[in-house]
Amino acid sequence: MSLSSVGEGATRRGSIRSSRCRGGLFWQGVIVFNYFGSKSKLVRLYPEPEYDTIIEPFCGSARYALWYYNRNVILCDADPRICRIWKWLIKDATVADIQSLPELVQGESRKRHKYLSIEEQWLLSLLVNRGHASIGQCETMTEWSYDQGDGNIPRFKRFAIRMLPRIRHWKIFNTLYQKLRINPCATWFIDPPYNYAAGDSYRYGQSAIDYARLAKWVRSRRGQVIVCEHPQATWLPFTPLKTRQMGIKGTLKEAMFTEDYGCKR
Ligand SMILES: C[S@@+](CC[C@H](N)C(=O)[O-])C[C@H]1O[C@@H](n2cnc3c(N)ncnc32)[C@H](O)[C@@H]1O
Repeated sequence: MSLSSVGEGATRRGSIRSSRCRGGLFWQGVIVFNYFGSKSKLVRLYPEPEYDTIIEPFCGSARYALWYYNRNVILCDADPRICRIWKWLIKDATVADIQSLPELVQGESRKRHKYLSIEEQWLLSLLVNRGHASIGQCETMTEWSYDQGDGNIPRFKRFAIRMLPRIRHWKIFNTLYQKLRINPCATWFIDPPYNYAAGDSYRYGQSAIDYARLAKWVRSRRGQVIVCEHPQATWLPFTPLKTRQMGIKGTLKEAMFTEDYGCKR
């Protein structure tokens, strides 16, 4: 796939430490849709982007890009439904569309709302149950989701209404990372499915990924790479990311590989 709209104009930003470039306080508690493996709790622990362009080839709910939303953001994912939700949010959704989404109560099925567009239905599917990796796994508002921020959907709406005008410049492509034919100098936030059983929770999971090949691809990028994995993964020299205590559930374990290959190659 050739993404002709992506130019080579991406420049290194040097060391950007200004909070102007990040979400700042407004962005705290970022919630777009709930997604298994999303980096919502960790996003501030990763290095800041050193380049104007951020590419997330395994975007899911794109929490890293959301935190730095005002860069040139390019999202890709293998899952067509995830991409169609993003395309809807980036290009088509209006504030009125967001406001009119039904606010499901605990135990209510999103299937009652068949008049909605397919993208809206899939979005509700992800909102009714926190942390699902695949649309359709659960269609009824769970207690766990409902208890989050007064019903989860109202919370999403408040966030989305502020988010929409800020992401209109983003691009989304439904493609496998292997088919991505671009390599601009950019910050590449690479968060594939974990290379162990949990990585098969997705519709496009770890079994279909050749991690040795992915490691080669990572090392061939131009610019900065930030790769996420579980601490036990060995396909790159990962180092543990500072972990966080997650309530009573224990510690969130995560590892990272990061490198800046520069733009000259
Ligand atoms: C760990 S999740 C990404 C989570 C994301 N960072 C977030 O904050 O929500 C991995 C994503 O990779 C996608 N994926 C799996 N195989 C892929 C492939 N070969 N190319 C592109 N995307 C793929 C899955 O559909 C899934 O959305």
